[in-house]
Amino acid sequence: MKITWLAHSCFELVGSLNVLIDPYIQNNPLAPRGIDDFNPDVIAVTHGHANHLGNAGDIARRSGCLVISTPEISRYLKGLGARAEGMNIGGSFRAGKSVFYMTYAMHSSGIIESDHLLYGGEAAGFVINDGVRVYHAGDTGLFYDMRLIGELYRPEVALLPVGDRFTMGPREAAMAVSWIRPDIAIPMHYNTKSSISQDPADFQALVESLCDTEVIVMDVGETIEL
Ligand code: NI
Repeated sequence: MKITWLAHSCFELVGSLNVLIDPYIQNNPLAPRGIDDFNPDVIAVTHGHANHLGNAGDIARRSGCLVISTPEISRYLKGLGARAEGMNIGGSFRAGKSVFYMTYAMHSSGIIESDHLLYGGEAAGFVINDGVRVYHAGDTGLFYDMRLIGELYRPEVALLPVGDRFTMGPREAAMAVSWIRPDIAIPMHYNTKSSISQDPADFQALVESLCDTEVIVMDVGETIEL
């Protein structure tokens, strides 16, 4: 599997499928590619905040790809003309050879449309098994059932927010790693704006003090192959 970080919480996973997660592209000051540069098979959306739902509707409408998210966000995207399937926390969805497990996230999920705030259901995360098991935590605070996610799905890679203020900071995220015990942890959701400014080396040092998981600090646009 190839994993590319597209800044913030947006990742492209290329295995048997091309999967785009939380496509915050157009308004993302760090996005290395434009919305027309993607042709995913599946877009997975963790929650309704604009920096996660992002351009899911635009990309899905143009490319005809499938969007997987909560029932509320799927319904919203269908209203925009996208092809979308709903699922909920604790369940799984199969697409080709891949399995998407939706996990709990301790966060909110309102959708802002014009000046209106729409109910977006619950925030979520995903474990995606497409040959390699990747846990994308979405936006979340630290919660103890991350141990359960580690035990149940045994993710080899964990993508975890470290930006603080709206999600876990480095200390909480390092503890999450020690509970999930992936082979590789990759920090996300930091340095996109000044309010979530972090030095990822702090997260890396904290993880190293707690467990033997390898931290890979990716550059924006960088691809790693596992
Ligand atoms: Ni959020």
